[in-house]
Order: sequence, then structure tokens, then C-alpha cells
Amino acid sequence: MDQIAYVNGSFVPMSEAKVSILDRGFLFADGIYEVAAVLDGKLVDNASHLARLERSVGEIALGLPETIDRIQEIQKELIARNNLANGMVYLEVTRGADTGRDFAFPKNDVKPTLILFTTVKDIVGAPSAKTGIGVITVPDIRWTRRDIKSVALLAQVLAKQAAAEAGAGEAWMIEDGKVTEGGSSSAFILTQDDVLVTRQNGSEILPGCTRKAVVALAEERQLRVEERAFSIEEALAAKEAFITSATLFVQAVVTIDGKPVANGKPGPMTGRLREIYVDFARATAV
Ligand code: PDD
Repeated sequence: MDQIAYVNGSFVPMSEAKVSILDRGFLFADGIYEVAAVLDGKLVDNASHLARLERSVGEIALGLPETIDRIQEIQKELIARNNLANGMVYLEVTRGADTGRDFAFPKNDVKPTLILFTTVKDIVGAPSAKTGIGVITVPDIRWTRRDIKSVALLAQVLAKQAAAEAGAGEAWMIEDGKVTEGGSSSAFILTQDDVLVTRQNGSEILPGCTRKAVVALAEERQLRVEERAFSIEEALAAKEAFITSATLFVQAVVTIDGKPVANGKPGPMTGRLREIYVDFARATAV
């Protein structure tokens, strides 16, 4: 059966879900997106995703065509219409379709485009949660406003394609000798003296919602957390490494450029933080 998508006010079968070729998301990547996980039919940490959506659109002077409350209603209705138990809801808002290709913002009353669709994924039971993944390193060639969750993802497409070709699950992007983040995830290490390290928020990285929750959950459990940049040498000398994202939760990293992290197996703290995050996700889902 065809999935149902949402396009500008209507719920339509995926095969009929279309936007104009003049849409500025298509022509200029002039748009913002969010991805929220769904567990047992409920949205995980959605307030955090919607707060980041509001911030991202604000940073590019793009008005949302619906209120945040209405957007959450649309997310929920889409989950219900698609009978989605586990997976994610993708949401994108663009500056709409003007009458031609003009770089500057539309002068007329062009309505932003809002689209949503869902994807099925067993995030909790994903096999890679047990095995961990390898990462490769690539130079971070992105623009300098990575804190905005923009749909301009070409650098990440190329980074993640290089990872796929190398048989790795993610690419860690490197700038000035330090890891910024993964192609679509935040990067963490656990040092030999049990300090959890992840890069501080700023314009160099996306402020990950899962990252934020994991840092808070770790601090609540008296784990020492340092928000600072780390190098690949430090990661290879670490006890454990992992990534976080809405679509993976907490995922062990067992090799970097083919070299093992510690014994090359998912570490116990990563496993524990994953369990803690899954509990948090279930307990707070709406
Ligand atoms: N990506 N960093 C980048 C560059 C990302 O694209 C993402 C998420 C994250 C993690 O953020 P969060 O924990 O809020 O999902 C960090 C989404 C999942 C995607 O592009 O599919």
C-alpha cells in the first residue's frame, strides 16, 4: 500500500506527493529539515526537534507556514495514517516556489512549502547496535553555519558515499585536525579516565538533539562530560567511541579508518548509554 505523505495542507499518497520545479528547496537548497524518531507510534524528543526547527528557520529568516503545535499534530496524524510503529518522521520547509529563479527572497506573497513523510525503521533492534560500525575520516568541506539544519547536504552526501564505498557506516568530518561531527550524527569518545568527550556546540556543528539528551542523562548519572573538540589520535587511544542521532540513538564506533578503537568491540559504557537513552525515549515520547 502506498505511504501517505503531507504536502502543503493535504495528506496524499506518496506517488502524488509533488512540489514545483521552481521550489526554492529544489533550486537553491533554501530550506530547513528535521527528523524525529518514532517508537511504538510516538514521537521521540520531539519538543527538542521542533525547538531546533524554529531556531533554524529563524536563522534564515524563513517563516513557518503552520504553528509548531499544528506541525506536531500533522506529524501525529501522519504516523496514524501510515500506521507507523517504529521509524521516523521527516519534515522539510522551504521558501516556496516563486515565479522564476531569483536568488533573493521572493517579493510577493510566496507561501513556504511544508512536506512530511514517514519511514519504517526498527531503531532499537537494528543489528548494528550490537556489532557497532566503522567510520572513515574525510575533510569537513561544509559551509560555516553548520548549526542550521539546512537541506544543503552535498558535502554529507559525498562523505557518506565515501563511507559506504569503504564499507563503513559513517564518515567523521575533520577540520583543523579535530573531528567536527559525523555526516549525519554527533561524535563522542570515552577517554581512558572515563570522561565523555563531545565537541562543544557552535557554528561548526549541528546541535544534535540526541547529543543534548545523552549529555544530560550522562551528567545526571555523575559521569564526567567535557564538551570540547578531539582528534582522531585521541579517539584511537580512547576506551570507547560512539555516535548519536535521532535515527540511530547511540551507536558504537569500533573502527576508525580501519584501525580498532580499543579491542574493536562495542564498549560497555556505550551499551549502557544506549539503554539509558532508549528508556528516556520511551518514557518521554508523545
Ligand atoms: N541527522 N550532525 C549532523 C550533521 C546531522 O545531520 C545530524 C542528524 C546530527 C544528529 O542530530 P540529532 O541527534 O538531532 O538527530 C548531527 C539526521 C538524523 C539526518 O540527516 O537524517
